[in-house]
Amino acid sequence: MFGAIVRRYDLANHMLSCGVDVYWRKRAADIVFSWHPGKIADLATGTGDLALALQKELPDAKVTGVDFVPEMLELAQKKGVRQTILADAMMLPFADASFDCITIAFGLRNMENWRGALVEMSRVLRRNGHLLVLEFSLPTGPILRPIYRFYLHHCLPFLGSVLTGKKSAYDYLGHSIEQFPSGRAMVDLIEASGFEHATLQPLTRGIVTIYTAQKSQAGPS
Ligand SMILES: C[S@@+](CC[C@H](N)C(=O)[O-])C[C@H]1O[C@@H](n2cnc3c(N)ncnc32)[C@H](O)[C@@H]1O
Repeated sequence: MFGAIVRRYDLANHMLSCGVDVYWRKRAADIVFSWHPGKIADLATGTGDLALALQKELPDAKVTGVDFVPEMLELAQKKGVRQTILADAMMLPFADASFDCITIAFGLRNMENWRGALVEMSRVLRRNGHLLVLEFSLPTGPILRPIYRFYLHHCLPFLGSVLTGKKSAYDYLGHSIEQFPSGRAMVDLIEASGFEHATLQPLTRGIVTIYTAQKSQAGPS
């Protein structure tokens, strides 16, 4: 599905979010900056927008963009992501404790097993290493929530199909956001998957949330 929308993926992202996605990734990069990591893996990097924001914020860090769609990585490289690896995030080709920080933006929701993916992230993180997950969530406000759901299930598939020619990808997006745990449920999932001190920061009235955590000594429960 992602291979089929590569060409218009960035344009669709910026238009459908009215450009706010740039701010979301900048906020994520600012948080990562505060941890001063030397080695970062940006999983499900796609066309590399978060990896690029991280490279800009942390010019001395080694940022590796990981994705399992070659066309996405080709575009990421063309846009300036210095290091990319073609791999499935469910089975990363890295030794235990290889990274100081793992980031993943709009990627975990698409994985076949969310807990399995988080446990794999914890495995490749060093002791006390940091995790940052940027994901869609549903606004909790009683007025915005139904409006946003209408946009998600009616406007987004229409606009997405006009921009990319793939309506199914945008039907899938709305359904996947509904299914994906958010807020406290996501914090609990992260903490059961090899992490501790999980936090959440809703952005743009809860349309997206940034989750952070640190690798726990105890491992997954
Ligand atoms: C919605 S895009 C997000 C891309 C980028 N992180 C961003 O912020 O725009 C999701 C990406 O996750 C990748 N992906 C999904 N499942 C994956 C997996 N198991 N391993 C590696 N990449 C995966 C897809 O190929 C796609 O590029």
